[in-house]
Amino acid sequence: MSADPLLRLDAVTLSYPNGTRALAGVDLTVAAGEFLSLLGPSGCGKSTVLRLVAGLLSPTSGQVEWTRPAARGDIGFVFQEPTLMPWATIRANVRLPLDLAGVGRAEGDSRALAELEKVGLSDFADAYPRELSGGMKMRAALARALVTRPGLLLLDEPFAALDEITRLKLNDDLLALWRHGGFTVLFVTHSVFESVYLSSRIAVMGPRPGRIVGEMMVDLPPERDLATRTGTLYGAQCRAVSALLETAMAPASNTGRGAG
Ligand SMILES: Nc1ncnc2c1ncn2[C@@H]1O[C@H](COP(=O)(O)OP(=O)(O)O)[C@@H](O)[C@H]1O
Ligand SMILES: [Mg+2]
Repeated sequence: MSADPLLRLDAVTLSYPNGTRALAGVDLTVAAGEFLSLLGPSGCGKSTVLRLVAGLLSPTSGQVEWTRPAARGDIGFVFQEPTLMPWATIRANVRLPLDLAGVGRAEGDSRALAELEKVGLSDFADAYPRELSGGMKMRAALARALVTRPGLLLLDEPFAALDEITRLKLNDDLLALWRHGGFTVLFVTHSVFESVYLSSRIAVMGPRPGRIVGEMMVDLPPERDLATRTGTLYGAQCRAVSALLETAMAPASNTGRGAG
């Protein structure tokens, strides 16, 4: 991981218009080039953090500071649902961000095809989303997010709805894309095992109102594969992250309606 910060959330709080306090004092630095996972229970504000980083929301107080102003907005976003346009071919879906950026049709098509090749979908460029499996749709969503070559890729529980075999395969494919792509990843998950397998660093969030309760570098060799998942080192890292998560959850039982 590079120690060179890309962006920083500084004492960020976020209250939604209906009064829900989603975040209370989030401090988080994202380093250029790292694979950072944001791990926490459902409702702790993970998606809210991604929306703040993407500029879709503004903090109620605190700051989202970018080290290089040009990096702001240089973002690809992948959601839990692939959100492909059903009436358009896979190629046209992947080309969409380039169309919106005013890139010409011929160049857009060739860049979309190159991106589809990287995710193993070149044979499905002219297919429609309904012809693809869930895993293939997610690959297409990844290609669409990366087609503009963003510096930062935001992923919001992208594999949560997939079966386990497909999910493990996509974990490896995402890691390969990250290794060769030179972009930074901010990955949201509620899975301890997924976060340890994928990440160079993990930030653990506590229950609402969300804040970062712990951070951990993942002490595993950068190359990850099946042997990683069954190794003792992986097990030890998963236990360490689980312990952080348990600490994160503990204060909740001491507030509100009380313990038990
Ligand atoms: N648009 C919204 N309006 C009001 N409350 C919201 C909105 N979006 C999310 N919330 C609430 O904010 C909290 C954090 O939500 P979210 O960031 O989606 O959590 P997570 O992604 O960790 O599950 C939750 O209590 C959720 O119900
Ligand atoms: Mg969410």
